[in-house]
Amino acid sequence: MSYSHNCLFIGKVLIKKDSIDSSNNYAKQLLSNSKPIEGTAILTEFQSEGRGQRDSIWQSNPGENITLSIILYPNIKTEQYFLLNEMISLGIRDAISNFLPTEDIQIKWPNDILVNNKKIAGILIENNISNGVIISSVVGIGLNVNQTSFKENIAANSMKLVSHKDFDIEKVIDNLFSSIEHAYLLGKRNIAFIKSTYCQYLYGYKKQMEVIHLETDIVLKGQIENVREDGVLDFLTITGQHYFFNFKEIKFLLP
Ligand code: BTN
Repeated sequence: MSYSHNCLFIGKVLIKKDSIDSSNNYAKQLLSNSKPIEGTAILTEFQSEGRGQRDSIWQSNPGENITLSIILYPNIKTEQYFLLNEMISLGIRDAISNFLPTEDIQIKWPNDILVNNKKIAGILIENNISNGVIISSVVGIGLNVNQTSFKENIAANSMKLVSHKDFDIEKVIDNLFSSIEHAYLLGKRNIAFIKSTYCQYLYGYKKQMEVIHLETDIVLKGQIENVREDGVLDFLTITGQHYFFNFKEIKFLLP
């Protein structure tokens, strides 16, 4: 079975490893001592030190899910750096929707994909910046496919939990590569389209929700008004105040 036959570059070079510490670490190491072609992907069945956001650990049962990293050279100005995140989020969302066409699949700012309000995928993008431009990025993606049991305190979802079906992981990867490539190429030409489609699928966009401010523990009710190009979240409370949040400042209270 081969991957990404519909792709121009993502996954054309595919490095498969049974087990590594983290596919993001592997990709960063590659970048530090060579110039891999754009779209080079590192795929592994098991990560001993899979990393998530906020210094968390990304746990995934061996062989049941997708854990991979893609090397990109986005050439995006740092002021617009969230654009890459938007393209990747939309690509992942699109791929999942090809397999779960009737489900409610949303993007949760800044790095998660939800199905029925539970996290099914997470993104960890690590950028190299030079002279105000993102010259290379390692896009790490964890997507829960066939895993059905998760630690009790984790509200996680998987494609199998949602549909009660097993999925061919290689087909899902193939779809993921083409959907991400599509969103990436589109986003480079049409920023406005990416932004509006991102908002269309964004959890809490112009809809009532609650967030908790992590430093003060204060819960705020309101809605997302906008996500700025630098990734800052513009949150409008029900009392009419705008708050501007960075990534690690708040947590969403999901229903
Ligand atoms: C998050 O939701 O916290 C982000 C999770 C990102 C996990 C992926 S799995 C493949 C890649 N390698 C890593 O070590 N992390 C990312």
